[in-house]
Amino acid sequence: MPAAISRAADPSGRYADVYRRSIDDAEAFWAEQASRIDWFTPFAQVLDASRPPFARWFVGGRTNLCHNAVDRHAARRPDAQALIWHSTEVDKEQVWSFAELLAEVQAMAASLQDAGVGEGDRVLIYCPMLPQAVFAMLACARIGAIHSVVFGGFAAGSLAGRIDDCTPKLIVSCDAGSRGGKLTAFQPLLEEAMRLAAHKPAQVLWFDRGLQPLQPRPGRDLLWDAERERCWGRAVPCVALESNAVSYTLYTSGTTGRPKGVQRDVGGYAVALAASMALIFDGREGESYFSTSDIGWVVGHSYIVYGPLIAGMATVMYEGLPIRPDPGIWWRLVEKYKVTVMFSAPTAVRVLKKADPSYLQQADLSSLRALFLAGEPLDEPTARWIRDALGKPVIDNYWQTETGWPILTLARGVAEMHERLGSPGVPMPGYRALIVDPETGEDLVEPGQKGVLAIDYPLPPGCLQTVWGDDARFVNTYWSSIPGRQLYSTFDLAMRDADGYTFILGRSDDVINVAGHRLGTREIEECIAGLGSVAEVAVVGVADELKGQVAVAFVVARQAMADEVLTAQVMQQVNEQLGAVARPARVVVVAALPKTRSGKLLRRAMQALCEGREIGDLSTLEDAATLQALAERLRPA
Ligand code: PRX
Repeated sequence: MPAAISRAADPSGRYADVYRRSIDDAEAFWAEQASRIDWFTPFAQVLDASRPPFARWFVGGRTNLCHNAVDRHAARRPDAQALIWHSTEVDKEQVWSFAELLAEVQAMAASLQDAGVGEGDRVLIYCPMLPQAVFAMLACARIGAIHSVVFGGFAAGSLAGRIDDCTPKLIVSCDAGSRGGKLTAFQPLLEEAMRLAAHKPAQVLWFDRGLQPLQPRPGRDLLWDAERERCWGRAVPCVALESNAVSYTLYTSGTTGRPKGVQRDVGGYAVALAASMALIFDGREGESYFSTSDIGWVVGHSYIVYGPLIAGMATVMYEGLPIRPDPGIWWRLVEKYKVTVMFSAPTAVRVLKKADPSYLQQADLSSLRALFLAGEPLDEPTARWIRDALGKPVIDNYWQTETGWPILTLARGVAEMHERLGSPGVPMPGYRALIVDPETGEDLVEPGQKGVLAIDYPLPPGCLQTVWGDDARFVNTYWSSIPGRQLYSTFDLAMRDADGYTFILGRSDDVINVAGHRLGTREIEECIAGLGSVAEVAVVGVADELKGQVAVAFVVARQAMADEVLTAQVMQQVNEQLGAVARPARVVVVAALPKTRSGKLLRRAMQALCEGREIGDLSTLEDAATLQALAERLRPA
């Protein structure tokens, strides 16, 4: 049983009651939560835990994510607002009611079906923040196709890897993305990705925004405007999917160069999201929810698309920067759409704080009940600033692509609990969160003890079922790192204080977090190592005031060449292969990389040097001369 929470933290004791029940009487708890969604066929078994570490929730139950997100609301409240799209990139705003959203989704579902997409087929969606991308996600969910959304900031190489892993029958994309007014043509990127990939998708469905020329290929390509017209008005019923059918895969970075396809179910995910909307976010039907994330990330899946819609809320989807046309844009949207619950990331808040904080005071934010922040550590100054500026609770929440919904936070829908700056909070219902010694596997229960945050079996509904196409990787990566125990490792280091609040102390592996974007340093290294001019490379995450962390690449040239030339090549390679999101903030050309005797890179030492931290007496360290040389390189000229 995870550590107790003190009365000081949970004055009413209500959180403790709900949490305890979710652990001690998990099946009854989740059976109750399951009544928050519609089932076509009731489940026969709440949990099948016969094959750890795999868990199957709501076995035999049949349901559909799209039905729960759209149809059931369209039936009761057809004219209520469902999707609000605001783009400061193309200066457009559009609102769909639940009935209108249903019509769009059905037309897209019909088009996909006509293209031969059916239950279990994969559809890769490579799009910026467009409403059509949401229609596509919901259309897939409707017909039982598995969507895999790839963040628009990724480039051809990343995209090709994902195409080969999920082998989509069809790809959904558009002519261009726009960021801060700068256009990125998507077709050349996608064509290059399809050229690189071994798997060749049969069809591509394009949204033509009129931003960049599109050259459709006859026989392969479909244009949404024409398809929409052709399919408009067709009724496409929701497929009654078994709860454990696959709803989507979403790729995320780990310690290897190859991202993992996090695979999620249907029923467990729908229940977890419905429960989290009520118990954590306190989002209510008929209200508006605004998450500033992107559909390419897990926060976008759970809390732009499925969560708010399942809860019957209007979801605000924003295409643009937080500071353009000015730093007041988000707050004006909150005022205009009477947003009650908002979800963003610490980086965005730091950007706003730096820009011109007075914009916050210019909008009427009376509708807003709370701001949730996640994706990276929330530092105290940022938390304090935004809390004071808003005069509303600011709730940190900690989770992962793998879990799909918060592991640690404060359950606002259950009980008023005191926030503790620097801590995301306490375990959410169903999460048997433990802090364990990574060397011995022992539970660390004393306040202040540092260890790895692990979750005991079974993971609650909504978490990853497995790694797409690779059960062994699921078991070996996530469930095999704690000695002597089969526990899910988050790979985050953590400690608890005396009241039971958990603090996240950073990753224990080589994953870094740049502006809330999770990146694997190995992935970036492999990409850079692909350059013929690079002999060796090491990428480390370095603390950054604005972005939390940035990537710094240390490269050794294969032959003599100017540093600037090599640096430019490295930047271009990452840009073209992985995308701008993974580009290092700095490339440092060095003669050699510091290593231990056994050849392991001294990453922590390199990171410490970059952060200006003491790494002790260099002379006592293995490979001190190389580290010394590296330190010289970092010293400002
Ligand atoms: O290291 C933790 C950090 O981000 C990782 C998960 O990133 P991702 O898979 O992109 O999922 C983001 C979902 C919100 C975690 O392993 N992280 C996420 N939230 C927090 C955090 N670190 C500290 N505090 C948080 N609130």
